[in-house]
Amino acid sequence: MVARASLAETVGVVAGIVVPLVARGLIVRRPRMTALQQRLDVDARAVRRLQRLRRRYGPGPLRLRIPGRSMAVVLDAGDARRVLEESPVPFSPATREKTAALRHFQPHAVLITDPPQRPGRRALNERVLEPGRCHHLGEHFARVAGEEVDALLADAGEGAVVGHSELVPAYWRTVRRVVLGDGARDDTLVTDLLRSLRQDANWAYFKPRRDRVRARFDAELARHLARAEPRSLATLLPSDEVARGQVPHWLFAFDAAAIALVRATALLAAHPAELAAVQREADGGEREDGVPQHARAAVLEALRLWPTTPAVLREASEATRWATGTLPAGTSFFTYAPFLHRDDERLASANSYDPSLWFGRPAVGNWPFVPFSAGPAGCPGRELVLLVTGEFLSRLVAARGLEPVAVAGVREGAVLPGTLDPFRLRVRLTAPRTAPLAAV
Ligand code: HEM
Repeated sequence: MVARASLAETVGVVAGIVVPLVARGLIVRRPRMTALQQRLDVDARAVRRLQRLRRRYGPGPLRLRIPGRSMAVVLDAGDARRVLEESPVPFSPATREKTAALRHFQPHAVLITDPPQRPGRRALNERVLEPGRCHHLGEHFARVAGEEVDALLADAGEGAVVGHSELVPAYWRTVRRVVLGDGARDDTLVTDLLRSLRQDANWAYFKPRRDRVRARFDAELARHLARAEPRSLATLLPSDEVARGQVPHWLFAFDAAAIALVRATALLAAHPAELAAVQREADGGEREDGVPQHARAAVLEALRLWPTTPAVLREASEATRWATGTLPAGTSFFTYAPFLHRDDERLASANSYDPSLWFGRPAVGNWPFVPFSAGPAGCPGRELVLLVTGEFLSRLVAARGLEPVAVAGVREGAVLPGTLDPFRLRVRLTAPRTAPLAAV
C-alpha cells in the first residue's frame, strides 16, 4: 500500500511547505513575505521535513490526509522523473490550482491546456522558442542584452550599489525588445498591467477576473504584436488568437529569470574565483551553443539553489501504479524542487555554489535538477532564457567587478541560505574593467 502520512505530518507539510509557498506568491512574489521567509529560512526547514518523511516512510510517493482530495508528495528523484516524463498523460500539468491562477491573464496558455488542444499549442511554442538549440535570433538577442547593460552602466558610476530595483528594469527593457521588438523597449505599461493581473493570479479562484484590466493589457499587447517587428519573438507568431495567447506566458516567465539574475550577481560577488572565470570567458568571447558557459552556469546555479518554480504540480487523469501500490485517478502529485536540488543526504554540494554541476550538461534532463521542469511539458523557453540572461550577466561582469554589499548569508564556504529574498540583495559595481587585448 502506498504510504500515508499521519494527520500531524500532513498538517506539517501543509503549514510548513504549502502555506509559505502560497503566502510568498506563486505567480508573483510578495516582497515582505519573502523577506520574512528568508529570516525563518523556510525552504531549508521544508527540505529537512521531507527528508524526515522519506526516512520514516521510504522513497515512494507519500499520500497526505487531505479531506476530499487525493494528494501525494513525490520523495524520490526517479519518481519525479516518471511524473514529468509521463506528462501530459496521465500526469497533466493543467492542475486545478494552476488553471484557476493562470486564467486571470493567459487562458490560452499551453501550460493549462489539456489534450486534444495541447499538442498544437506546444508545437507553436516550440516553433517560436526553439528549445534544445541556440535560437536563430540568438546573436541579435545577445546584442540587445549587451546594449541594455551598457545603458544601465552609463548611469552607474564606480562604486554604484545595485540590486533588484536597478538590474530588473534594465533586464525588462531587454525582455520587451526580445519578445515584442525595439518599439516596446520603454513600454512599462504593458508589463505593469501584466504584473497587476499576475497579482490577481496569486489569489487563484479567490479573486474574480478583472476584465477591464485584462482588456487594457490585451489592447497594449495587440498594439505591439501588430507591428510584428523583425527580430522579435512576436514576428515569428501566426496572427490567430490562440497563438497570440501564448505571449503573456512568455513575458510572465521572464520574471523568474530576472530574479535568478539578481541572485546570480550575489553568488558571483561572494565567489571571486567564479566571478573571475565569468570575466575571463567574457573577455575571450568564449561561447558554447551561443552562450557564455560560466555565466550560464551561474544563472542555473541560482535556479538550482533557489528554484523559481518550487512547486511542480501534476494531476493524474487515471489510476497510477507505484512500487508500493496504486494511487487513484485525480491524485495531485506535488514535487518540491528545493528538496530535489538541496537534498544534502544525496548530493555533496547541495548547499554550496557548484557551477560544475552544469558544465556540458543540459538545462533539462540534468537529473535530479528540475528548475525548468522536464519531459514533454518541460519549459520550451529554457535555452532562450539562459542565452538572454547569461549574456546580460556576462556583459555586466565583463564591464565591472562585483563586490558583496547585502547578500544575506551568501558566502563562500558557508551553507547557503535555503530561502533568499532577491528584493534586498545589493552588490557594488567596482571600477570599469579594461578587457585584455585579445578581446579587442
Ligand atoms: C528562468 C526562467 C524560467 C524558468 C525557471 C522556467 C521554468 C519553467 C517550468 C518549471 C515550467 C513547467 C511549469 C509546470 O509544469 O507547472 C515551465 C513551463 C513553460 N515555460 Fe518556462 N521557465 C522560464 C522561462 C521561460 C521563458 C522565458 C519562456 C518563454 C519565452 C518560457 C516558456 C514556457 C512555456 C511555454 C511553458 C509551458 C510548457 C508546457 O506546458 O508545455 N519559460 N517553465
